[in-house]
Order: sequence, then structure tokens, then C-alpha cells
Amino acid sequence: MRNLDIAVYPGDGIGPEVTDEAVRVLLAVAQLDGSFALNLTPFPWGFSYWEQHGRVVPEDFIDVLRPFDAILLGAVGWPEKLPDHITLAPLVEIRQTFDQYACVRPAKLLPGVKCVLADKGSEHIDFVVIRENSEGEYVNIGGRFKQGQADEVAIQTAVHTRRGVERILRYGFTLAQRRRQRLTMITKSNAQRFSYVMWDEILEELAPDFPDIEVDRQHCDAAVMNLVRMPEHFDVIVASNLFGDLLTDLGGIIAGGLGLAPSTNTNPERTAPSMFEPVHGSAPDIAGQGVANPIAAILSAAMMLDHLELTDAAERIRRAVERAMANGSHTMDLGGSLNTHEAASAVLEHLASNA
Ligand code: NAI
Ligand code: MG
Repeated sequence: MRNLDIAVYPGDGIGPEVTDEAVRVLLAVAQLDGSFALNLTPFPWGFSYWEQHGRVVPEDFIDVLRPFDAILLGAVGWPEKLPDHITLAPLVEIRQTFDQYACVRPAKLLPGVKCVLADKGSEHIDFVVIRENSEGEYVNIGGRFKQGQADEVAIQTAVHTRRGVERILRYGFTLAQRRRQRLTMITKSNAQRFSYVMWDEILEELAPDFPDIEVDRQHCDAAVMNLVRMPEHFDVIVASNLFGDLLTDLGGIIAGGLGLAPSTNTNPERTAPSMFEPVHGSAPDIAGQGVANPIAAILSAAMMLDHLELTDAAERIRRAVERAMANGSHTMDLGGSLNTHEAASAVLEHLASNA
């Protein structure tokens, strides 16, 4: 019996609402599986913690999280009361300190879920975006000169390292080997000739190591069009931090919406814990109503089990979600009428009947 220590950071808004349901599903699958036990430690950090302590996480939060096998995150942010750069800062620090350089975001349209694209169904939309999560356009390097004056200058620098690009591409190639053997690298090397031309060169250097993979390169502007026009073309997409961010919102919506979109922040070398979270945020507009879709959080929990090499249990969750979606067990965002708890209960029913 494997014992796994999981840090649970529900966060703000709908974060705790969907995380509670993901935890319910995790505990049920552990019991059905029988080969592992999950030791869950909740950390009530975020806006309410800030109200009491003047900070959203304790000072030593990185040391607190480090010994865990994985981190399950809900969502953070309470923008009406606290600026986002304060609530979201610990997440950036976790991703960078724990070297969670691969952000993996599958976009798979499930049968029973309506697609926003005309004439496209579940047979057309099944790709994964791997977003470089540790450098690129989101490093905090730059400055402002003559702030507020007419001749003000702002400089924001992107940093692309050979090591960073190589490791994210290798991650993509390896994933493509387990899928449909196609990798599309998305850059803008026609316009940004230093950074993305280096991406092009590294791709060319690595490709011979993966002769079974069909390699394709697209510029980001063409790629957004192609994702709408022919999503079936895509299998594994690798993109920089900024382009990955943009492409995964598009991926989220064409695969049924944010309520369904899971995500990882993976440290593939396992030198520190990885973190699993839905793509969506804390959704203050629907928080406290109990109507948020818990599926994105539940599928993120399944990705956590994948990372912990509990693939059977992860598959069992995914099958149960697929059946619940096909049966029309939908929340409001999908045009249904189930609340958060009822939607997770539908998944739990299929989980049990799988066994
Ligand atoms: P959001 O993802 O929270 O919400 C966007 C829209 O999608 C809203 O209309 C919301 O109701 C809907 N939505 C999101 N998740 C849903 C779910 N599970 N079920 C049904 N509907 C859902 O993005 P928004 O409004 O831009 O940001 C709200 C807060 O979340 C901000 O403070 C933002 O900074 C933060 N945020 C945090 C993230 C994180 O924790 N990693 C990621 C994205 C945003
Ligand atoms: Mg985004």
C-alpha cells in the first residue's frame, strides 16, 4: 500500500467549492483501487488568511509545501478586495522554486458536450498544449523610465534559455510518442528572430532523436486560425509561456469551456512537488452559489494521480467523467441544471459502477 502526502490549497471563491468535490472523488477512487492511500493536508491560504495575518500565505510556505508528494490547488484571487498580483504571487513562486516547468493542458471535447465550433465534435478535438512554465515572456525583468512623463519608456524582456527550450521540447516529444505521434511547435520566429529562431534551431537538433514523431511548426497567428479551422490536425502542441497561455484559453473554450479544463504544473525530474489545478480562476461572479462546475478540478486531480504513477485510478476517474458528460449530468455552464455537489455525485456514481 502506497501512502501519499498531498497538500491541498483550495484558495478563494469557487476554489474551495470545486476542490472539496475533487477531494471527494479522490478519496473514493483510492478506496476502490485499494493500492494507495491519500494523506490530505489542507492549507486555508488566500484572501481569508490575508484578512487575519496580513499575508496570503505564511512566510515559510515553500518549506511547508516541499516535503509533499503533490499539491492540489483550487484557484486563488479575490480582486474586489485584494489586487491579483498579491494573491497570485505565491503560485508564481511555487512554479518557479519547484521548477514546475511543464504546464500541461489537455483539450479534449467529451461526447455529450456541445462544441462552440460548427460541425466539430469529440472526434475532432483531442490535443494537449504544453506551455513552457518557467521562463520566456513572463520573467520579471524590465523597468520603466520617466514614468508618467510624455517620453516614458517601458522595457519588458523575455528570457529564453537553451536549457529551458530543450527540456520543454523533449517533454513534448516524449508525450507525442505516447499519443498520436505529432508535435506542433508554435512560435513567431518570422517576427522575433532571436528567441524563436533559437527555438526553431533546437527543434531541428532534437527531431532526429524522435524519428517516430511528425514535426510541424506554425506561427502563432496561423495556429489560432488553424485551431478553429481544423483542430483535428493537432496532437501535442509546445509553446512558450505567453503563447501557451493564449492558446490554452482557446483550447479550453473549444473543448467545452473553462469548467472542464484541467492543468498541471509539472516538475518532470521530480526534484520537488508538482502542482495540479483547474485552468479557471476563482470566479467571484458565481462564488458562494454552489453552481461551479467541479469537472475541471476533478480532471486535474486525475492528472495528479497520473503524475504519481497511479494511472489505473486516474483512468477510472476519466472514464467516470466521460460517462457523466455523455449522460447529460451537466452544470449550468454546460447548459445543465446540476449544482456543484450533484455534478460530482454523478461522477462518483459512475466511478462505483466502473469497479
Ligand atoms: P475565472 O476563470 O475565474 O472566470 C471566468 C468566467 O468563467 C467567469 O464568468 C466564471 O464564472 C466562469 N467560470 C470559471 N470557472 C468556472 C467553473 N468551474 N464553472 C462554471 N463557470 C466557471 O477568470 P476571471 O474572472 O478572469 O478571474 C477571477 C479571479 O481568478 C481573478 O482574481 C484572477 O486573477 C484569478 N485567477 C486565478 C487563477 C489561478 O488560481 N491559477 C487562474 C485564472 C484567474
Ligand atoms: Mg491564462
